Amino acid sequence: MEKKLPHIQTRLPGPEAQKVLALDHQFVSPSYTRDYPLVARRGEGMIVEDVDGNRFLDFSAGIAVVSTGHCHPEVVRAIQEQAAQLIHMSGTDFYYPLLAELAEKLAALAPGDSPKRVAFGNSGAEAMEAALKLARYHTRRHRFIAFQNGFHGRTLGALSLTASKAAQRRGFGPLLPGVTHVPYPNPYRCPLGYPAEACDCACACLDYLERQFKTVAPAEEVAAIVIEPIQGEGGYVVPPAPFLKRLRELADRYGILLIFDEVQCGMGRTGRMWACEHFDAVPDILITAKGIASGMPLGVTIARADIMKWEPGAHASTFGGNPLCCAAALTTIRLLEEKYIANAARMGEYLLSRLQDWPQKHRIVGNVRGKGLMIGIELVQNQQTKEPHEAARQQVIRSAFERGLLILGCGESTIRLMPPLIVEPEQADFALDVLEACIAEAEN
Ligand SMILES: Cc1ncc(COP(=O)(O)O)c(C=O)c1O
Repeated sequence: MEKKLPHIQTRLPGPEAQKVLALDHQFVSPSYTRDYPLVARRGEGMIVEDVDGNRFLDFSAGIAVVSTGHCHPEVVRAIQEQAAQLIHMSGTDFYYPLLAELAEKLAALAPGDSPKRVAFGNSGAEAMEAALKLARYHTRRHRFIAFQNGFHGRTLGALSLTASKAAQRRGFGPLLPGVTHVPYPNPYRCPLGYPAEACDCACACLDYLERQFKTVAPAEEVAAIVIEPIQGEGGYVVPPAPFLKRLRELADRYGILLIFDEVQCGMGRTGRMWACEHFDAVPDILITAKGIASGMPLGVTIARADIMKWEPGAHASTFGGNPLCCAAALTTIRLLEEKYIANAARMGEYLLSRLQDWPQKHRIVGNVRGKGLMIGIELVQNQQTKEPHEAARQQVIRSAFERGLLILGCGESTIRLMPPLIVEPEQADFALDVLEACIAEAEN
């Protein structure tokens, strides 16, 4: 497969893809959201080949998961060697070296100087469940503060915090009681109507949050404030620079824990290991998943050791931290530290510099934002009113697919660029050329 750029050789979907689609439409849960009919057969680096031999350039990374690219040879080797030795033993009841080694590594990597401990699960949602339980257990308080447009997973606890799209919650109530949602500061469209660029938006959101303590969520009952340092599903929103540090101060003032959800923005994606490093803010509990093991299912909850002091039996998961996932994670983390986080920073700057003038060049581009390889391009009907342009976004995503570029949306009308951290300049140029052509087409 080797090639570094896409090649489309059939109509899409091709004949083999159509057979899979027919089967899938009959038997697979209809709750999945597929924007276009990509039927993947194999992947290598930045390229995904479909079942008809068409090659696509992947700027979605399996939703920010394959951080080292598809089937990185060193990750594949680590998984194969581990599979030949020990596939499963369950770290909840037995010991094995990889689990302890990965915990040591993550404890060292986690932000802040205090000692850490790590709990293992299989997904982002499961890591969030562990964080919520731990916060309640430690504080003996029951409430949580979460943010509008946030996404934290779809299990019932995590879903109670998720507030990004109504379809994710509709029909599933009642959810966990005691969750209060507050506005997430957004410099492009401040939820409280404050001017762009100023930190007024951050202050207004903090004031709003603090008012909740006096009205609906007494602070002494709040276990934790849960936040994505950069919002993912909700629209790739980067908060104003001082916000997270001030949130830290506010949490400390009330003895409330701060949980950072770095499931999407963590593991080097933003050009630093953790997105919160851009803002000089340190959480009490950090969760991550997605990019941690290049596609093997792993979610981790990392907490200050003085917080993660729950008793034996309080929390565990049979498959969590499975040896194959640990092997993949240790290799992934090594590769990220050796070269790919630096590449994410470099390529992110390059992409953002090329994208910078798109709001001037394209009337449907309202805003371009991001850090590293977590970049959002928000499409609007009108740059003055900033009314979201969902139809144009969907059209751009679809026509990019037809030209061999895999991208996804987020928020109401944002396109997200989240390629594997291995992306090269030639591929970045190709992706932006295709995207610009698709935007120009949608504009007309
Ligand atoms: C910020 C964030 N938290 C949690 C999750 C849930 O992760 P998972 O789908 O692995 O349960 C996601 C998934 O998109 C996410 O983006």
